[in-house]
Amino acid sequence: MNFLTQTNAPVHTAFLSPQHVAEIVQTRGLAQVFAGMVETLRADFLRWNEFDKTARVASHSANGVIELMPIADAKTYTFKYVNGHPGNTLRGLSTVMAFGVLADVDTGVPLLVSELTLTTALRTAATSVMAAQALARPDSRVMALIGNGSQSEFQALAFHTQMGIEELRLYDIDEAATAKLMRNLAGTSLRLVKCSSAADAARGADIITTVTADKTLATIITPDMVRPGMHINGVGGDCPGKTELHADVLHMGPVFVEYAPQSRVEGDVQQMPGDFPVTELWQVLNGSATGRTSDAQVTVFDSVGFALEDYSALRFMREQAIALGIGEPLPLIPVLADPKNLFSALGAPASALAAHPPVAPMTQVTQGTQAAEHLA
Ligand SMILES: NC(=O)c1ccc[n+]([C@@H]2O[C@H](COP(=O)([O-])OP(=O)(O)OC[C@H]3O[C@@H](n4cnc5c(N)ncnc54)[C@H](O)[C@@H]3O)[C@@H](O)[C@H]2O)c1
Repeated sequence: MNFLTQTNAPVHTAFLSPQHVAEIVQTRGLAQVFAGMVETLRADFLRWNEFDKTARVASHSANGVIELMPIADAKTYTFKYVNGHPGNTLRGLSTVMAFGVLADVDTGVPLLVSELTLTTALRTAATSVMAAQALARPDSRVMALIGNGSQSEFQALAFHTQMGIEELRLYDIDEAATAKLMRNLAGTSLRLVKCSSAADAARGADIITTVTADKTLATIITPDMVRPGMHINGVGGDCPGKTELHADVLHMGPVFVEYAPQSRVEGDVQQMPGDFPVTELWQVLNGSATGRTSDAQVTVFDSVGFALEDYSALRFMREQAIALGIGEPLPLIPVLADPKNLFSALGAPASALAAHPPVAPMTQVTQGTQAAEHLA
């Protein structure tokens, strides 16, 4: 029992920082974390009909998008805040940054506030693996990895440890990104092949993973690059006006998505008519829909990232934090002896607060203070 499970006060919110998540990964090991996440994801996808689902709420701007991703079952509610700003790296910022909340449906108590930037990379790779385990040829050993930015190591190591991928064919328009990926993967048993183009990377691959960031209708994978039996794991086309696959690639084999109402707007299938056939992954997992039907078939997982994956990731990380005693308390909600006496949380009687002489207009009070510098 630790602060994550204490019940001697009405509200206990725990906090997991990126350092805490790193500590969980270091303690458990990356392969174990991926295996645990895939297992958690699969268990939750198999409960698909128990969830109150909605496509994410997106706020688009010239440079990117900010999204809220809520979901709930009868017991647990979660949401994620996440952005996608492909130009951010030029400003020294990540393309994708995220945090989220896991709350108790019964009371509304936020049980966990967590970083989700690292966790999103872990859950996205775990979701890709879950899809590939259902759709790719089991003898797949070579993967093209196109887009060698923040998500790429996670994809590489998830496929290496969970799918038996032995060789990675790497391509990024930014050679420094590929060099970074190769440095980070040095010392693993993966064979790393630096390629000169997306077509070069796709040559001889069993699986093609695209995880690029560009706010444009890109056609990184064209039909001439796709061979019979390939599985395409399209991760970066996840927003209106942002694709990676040529429309004709989507005609080369069945297309699988997470949640069709969201994927039709955000995924590579946004290019297709509204009645273009797609199969939701949970149906393949529970056996109610067919996945791959032959070794020669091309399969496409058009991933955009769905709220259920963050629900699973938050659930998994909370369980790990509880088991390992990692994390810290977050004094997020006022502690009240009388729950109707919220005013007491201001820490002074009304007479004192109301009688307080005005010092200066609010803007002048905060300007120049250390707090304001942090907030600016
Ligand atoms: N489907 C999901 O669940 C999910 C989850 C997380 C991120 N994403 C998406 O994955 C993408 C990558 O995210 P990231 O955090 O790694 O971003 P990042 O900016 O760190 O890396 C993206 C890389 O793509 C490269 N790139 C851009 N255009 C390219 C092209 N035409 N060919 C080859 N490489 C190209 C860039 O040079 C960069 O190195 C983003 O689009 C993001 O929105 C999807």
